[in-house]
Amino acid sequence: MKTRVYTVRHLEAAGPAIDECAAILRRGGLVAFPTETVYGLGADALNPRAVRAIFAAKGRPSDNPLIVHFADAEGAFSVADHVSATARTLAKAFWPGPLTLVLPRASHVPHELTGGLETVAVRVPDHPVALALLRAFGGGVAAPSANASGRPSPTRAEHVLEDLAGRIDAVLDGGETGVGVESTVVDARGAVPVILRFGGVPPEAIAAVAGGVECATDGAKEAEGGRPRSPGQKYRHYAPRAPLYIVKGRPDEVQRALTRLMRPGNAFLLSAETAAAIGLGPDDSRCYVLGPRTDLDAIAKRLYDGLRSLDRTRPVAIYAEELGGAGLGRALADRLERAAEGRVIEAARWLAEAEPAGKGSACSDA
Ligand code: TXA
Ligand code: MG
Repeated sequence: MKTRVYTVRHLEAAGPAIDECAAILRRGGLVAFPTETVYGLGADALNPRAVRAIFAAKGRPSDNPLIVHFADAEGAFSVADHVSATARTLAKAFWPGPLTLVLPRASHVPHELTGGLETVAVRVPDHPVALALLRAFGGGVAAPSANASGRPSPTRAEHVLEDLAGRIDAVLDGGETGVGVESTVVDARGAVPVILRFGGVPPEAIAAVAGGVECATDGAKEAEGGRPRSPGQKYRHYAPRAPLYIVKGRPDEVQRALTRLMRPGNAFLLSAETAAAIGLGPDDSRCYVLGPRTDLDAIAKRLYDGLRSLDRTRPVAIYAEELGGAGLGRALADRLERAAEGRVIEAARWLAEAEPAGKGSACSDA
């Protein structure tokens, strides 16, 4: 199959492209489109065959349910069996926007979509191209991130094509996405919202609106009737092909460790401050500079592009500075940790092993 690319630079001129993509969705085809978070791989949510095609194109495990996207809250709530006051409050505060609500599913929702769960995840994205497509289609569009399963999510159309060219019908290229990390997934069935995946809406903002919030983001452990509450959390995710290591510790120790790791084949994902401190300039192909350390918005926007860009240089390994902090920092820390799959270097301890007291430093690198 040849994947058609529809480039949208000005929404006013995009009518024909949007209509063609809506027609592809109606026929049961797959269309990748930009949202404010990452690109999604869309299909008609109520067409089981189309939904199965999403899983096949991505190589996604069939028990990992999909988010259904709608142009407005009324549409989103039409696939729920009932809508709690919590859900209405959150929808009012954050839609359109990077928040996904998990609700009891209505009986007409195909089980292919929900991975057999009795709940359905819905959201209204805040992106003009996504909203135009959803309006033109006129129904719910199931859309996971438009990457091959396990890979970093796409924040540009080129990322989508890197993973899925020849496997999907079309890509609507609306340029780089805004937030850069996925939506926050919240179980909104009860009085207190439960965060199942950190994302674009910070926990603090949810708590402020809902009067409280709980976290159950370790989907692998958080079981409900023997099943994880957010099945996606148990799978390998966001990972580049090269092994990724997070280097943790005091800034001076992290910088010393990184300096020692500057060997041929190694690549680095760093804040502007750390890159400057160890003498890696923005033009150095070994290093991808995410942005100023305190500018979490900028870092979120560039994180997945950074992982993919470094990967294209085929490094032996990628070393990343620890990300975190309040707000969006929770989502950043979560994504980086999952991408690293437990590979963490404690700078102080690593240096002590690499540079035993009184010894030279030439021969004991780990
Ligand atoms: O920002 C986003 O959310 C992007 C854009 C395209 O909207 N989509 C996205 O989809 O990240 P995906 O499939 O990559 O991640 C969806 C997450 C998974 O962790 C999945 O397990 C969880 O949402 N999820 C979906 N339905 C669920 C349900 N009924 N109950 C619990 N978790 C659910
Ligand atoms: Mg995903």
